Amino acid sequence: WGHTLFTYDSIGSTMDRAGELAHKGAREGALVIAAEQTEGRGRLNRKWISPPGSLYFSVLLYPPIEKLPYLTMLAGLAVAEAIEECVAVQAGLKWPNDVLIGGRKAAGMLVESSFSRGKQYAVIGVGINVNVDISTSPEITGVATSLSEQAGMPVDSLNLLRAAIDRIESRYSNFDKTALLDSWKARLITLGQPVKATMGEATIEGTATDVTDEGALIIRRTDGSICTVVAGDVTLS
Ligand code: BTN
Repeated sequence: WGHTLFTYDSIGSTMDRAGELAHKGAREGALVIAAEQTEGRGRLNRKWISPPGSLYFSVLLYPPIEKLPYLTMLAGLAVAEAIEECVAVQAGLKWPNDVLIGGRKAAGMLVESSFSRGKQYAVIGVGINVNVDISTSPEITGVATSLSEQAGMPVDSLNLLRAAIDRIESRYSNFDKTALLDSWKARLITLGQPVKATMGEATIEGTATDVTDEGALIIRRTDGSICTVVAGDVTLS
């Protein structure tokens, strides 16, 4: 992977560029990296603030459809492991895909896919707050952090990029669902916690007890009823 590399000083979103590459038939593993994004996006239509200093990249894949539900988990786990390899910090995962350090978000994954006839692909997008001062972005101060903030010194972004790509590639190419789920669950700080899940208008409150084999979150309400959240947002309450 990384055999086909597209680097940009500034781009709208690496997701869009990777999607265009898919339509042009670029090889699996093609990597789009930008030093900054002007239209960086996150899950649930959120904006991903993307100033210079951090890592923003997207990887193009042509997965069989069965692998699709696991790509976010795979990326989250790989990035958490890569961060721990490169920086002396502990990285946990908040369901479904946030990498948290010291209780604050340091990285996020976004998977977008197209499975219509003629153009079947998936793009894994990764944003890691590396050498940035979060206090300059008031919207996310208090909930976000950066690796340099946590490490107390600048972090080698290129090293981290290499570690993250290697780990995503290896977990994808040697796909092992059981090992993936086990390692992912072991890092999931959401389990056992009181949570509030929002899916559009609906809200569910309870305790996050487990995840399904596809990574959906199982919540037990106070009345004992069980609910499974496939997509949405969860706050630790
Ligand atoms: C999230 O936590 O909501 C996901 C954030 C994903 C951000 C990355 S940065 C690289 C790629 N390009 C984007 O526009 N978004 C993803």
